[in-house]
Amino acid sequence: AASDVVIVAVDGPAGSGKSSVSKQVARALGFGYLDTGAAYRALAWHALAREVDTSDATAVLEAVSDFDFRISLDPDDYWVRSGEVDVTEAIREQRVTDAVSGVARVPAIRRAINAAFRRLVAASGRPGVVVEGRDITTVVAPDAPARILLTADPAVRAARRSAEISGSTAAEVAEALRRRDSSDSKVVDFLTAAPGVAVVDSTALDFDETVAEVLAVARRELGGA
Ligand code: DC
Repeated sequence: AASDVVIVAVDGPAGSGKSSVSKQVARALGFGYLDTGAAYRALAWHALAREVDTSDATAVLEAVSDFDFRISLDPDDYWVRSGEVDVTEAIREQRVTDAVSGVARVPAIRRAINAAFRRLVAASGRPGVVVEGRDITTVVAPDAPARILLTADPAVRAARRSAEISGSTAAEVAEALRRRDSSDSKVVDFLTAAPGVAVVDSTALDFDETVAEVLAVARRELGGA
């Protein structure tokens, strides 16, 4: 292995509760937390800041060359920076969400970003890291001792999202989620579990129950590692 840091890999769609659940699981295990979606978002933010056309793969690839991605792996002190600029809030803006698929679908960009993830994990200074995204169980860390796919029914995911977002109707949120699932799944299949990946379906679970279930799977798999 490239490093001795244990990885708990968590994949899942938007609105599955993946980020908040992964953070809480990291705290419980004393592990770091790595939000990989933030890297794609920060790169999209960087490209937009440089007025790069994010639908132009060659132009985006050029923007990667001076992309200085920094992220906290501390689940209790989460921040994202592009160089010295704190982009923690800005990368959640709709214009970034709209641009991110264009950035994430370029294979050379994914390779560069995945290499950065492996360096971040190796240098984390933690016994382990919960790494959360879309292709962690399959591409970034297919050999991780614990690999989990967190799912939930689309209607439940939309309901959770609309509880977080103000100013949109439930139908608008459901439609936005459907569009995002569809464009995201053209890049990586995060809706079916690869062999050896444990599925946790949070449709009928609340937050604490979901955390308990993911922790139980992680502890079982790590115990056997
Ligand atoms: O999880 P999120 O919404 O912050 O992800 C942002 C975007 O990045 C989303 O459109 C999917 C993409 N992504 C990806 O392609 N691979 C990952 N490992 C994580 C996110």
